[in-house]
Amino acid sequence: MKPSKPGARGAKLAIHGGSPAVTLAAGDLFTWPIVTAADERAVLDVLRRGAMSDNDVSLKFEAAYARYQHRKYVLSFCNGTSSLQAAMWACGVGRGTEIIAPTLTYWASSLPALSLGATINFADVLPDTLCIDPADIEHRIGRYTRAIVVVHNHGYPCDMRPIMAIARRHKIKVIEDVSHAHGGLYRGQLLGSIGDVGCMSMMSGKAFPTGEAGMLVTNDRRLWERATAFGHYERTGKSNFAKGASVLTDPALIEFAGLPQGGSKHRINQLCSAMGLTQLAQYPRRMAEIQKAMNCFWDFLEGVPGIRAHRTAKNSGSTMGGWYSPVGHYVAEELGGLAIEKFVQAVRAEGGRAGIWGEFPLHLHPLLQTADIYGDGKPTVVANAHRDVRQGPGSLPVAEGLKGRVLWTPWFKHHRPRQIKQYAQAIRKVCEHYANS
Ligand SMILES: Cc1ncc(COP(=O)(O)O)c(C=O)c1O
Repeated sequence: MKPSKPGARGAKLAIHGGSPAVTLAAGDLFTWPIVTAADERAVLDVLRRGAMSDNDVSLKFEAAYARYQHRKYVLSFCNGTSSLQAAMWACGVGRGTEIIAPTLTYWASSLPALSLGATINFADVLPDTLCIDPADIEHRIGRYTRAIVVVHNHGYPCDMRPIMAIARRHKIKVIEDVSHAHGGLYRGQLLGSIGDVGCMSMMSGKAFPTGEAGMLVTNDRRLWERATAFGHYERTGKSNFAKGASVLTDPALIEFAGLPQGGSKHRINQLCSAMGLTQLAQYPRRMAEIQKAMNCFWDFLEGVPGIRAHRTAKNSGSTMGGWYSPVGHYVAEELGGLAIEKFVQAVRAEGGRAGIWGEFPLHLHPLLQTADIYGDGKPTVVANAHRDVRQGPGSLPVAEGLKGRVLWTPWFKHHRPRQIKQYAQAIRKVCEHYANS
């Protein structure tokens, strides 16, 4: 798009009485999940059979997901949080140990460590990708570190090469949290298939939606068995409730088969497995369309002052997957210091979509400073730890400095350039004309 001149027709901002940039009805441009008759049939079948707590559809879903993800072992979960907790325990995260995780992301990527008696050493993020900074990991590794959790934040793949090299050097595991990036690629490799184990939420707002569910994927049989032993007691045998033979081969796990070692029940509801199977059949096509639509949006905004795309470089072999929860960088200095709140208001007045990004650095939250969750008489974060890893204000400066610098942007589900261009224009108009209007 060519820049429009100040004073040109259409340059008066809607917030100041001009005509809004978005005139076309959104229709189903943003509707998610897309639920078709095939989803309904599959879910109804489970419902009518009363098979919600059975395993037949879930096993089919797991087999299909294993093929999709090119992993030997997969395990479905009632949600993504439980898949992360089981993955951590499988990797040896337990009392007195530590994980390293990014301070910016949804809490479930790290907080389950506390329930296992471990603590969290938070790492900073990179300002452009919003993912963990590989250069802020190695110095945090100590004798008790068991795992690095990485999150492909808002779809952006973490820089996995240096992270895997660090982990291999120190013989610690890497857990990829793929909840924002199902189907995304890092230099041609499928996310979730690079670390030792991948976990993904599949709640209904995610790019891969099933309702409420999670999945764990790995090529490591031992990790998979441990994850199973933690909260899938019905698969471990030796119990009245066990369906079929035990899947366990590790004698150390078989000894306790029939009861979940984590005291948790992690089984997926088969209504979600049914939805997962039908959604998976459509996902590659839907993801490709989302990528086309989102790239079209950012192409329209290329070079506009005040706003930068949060996306991988073209032809890098890395992609944004289903582009879950898309964001963009807001550069107030290029707009005369315009406060993000005012910017968002003006874009919304144009009929556009923008919001103030809501993530905050976890390390500063009181839960990670003072909360005594388990009645130890001291903060849980240090109760079992061999060192105090708490981090105060100023300790992770990039993450702490991002407030007001990141925006939610529209998440297009269909490639409709005419409409997409209007949403881009809503942003562009505010960027180009706020100062003069
Ligand atoms: C990065 C990330 N990890 C983990 C989770 C937890 O998944 P769930 O909500 O399915 O428990 C979520 C979101 O919900 C998430 O965004």
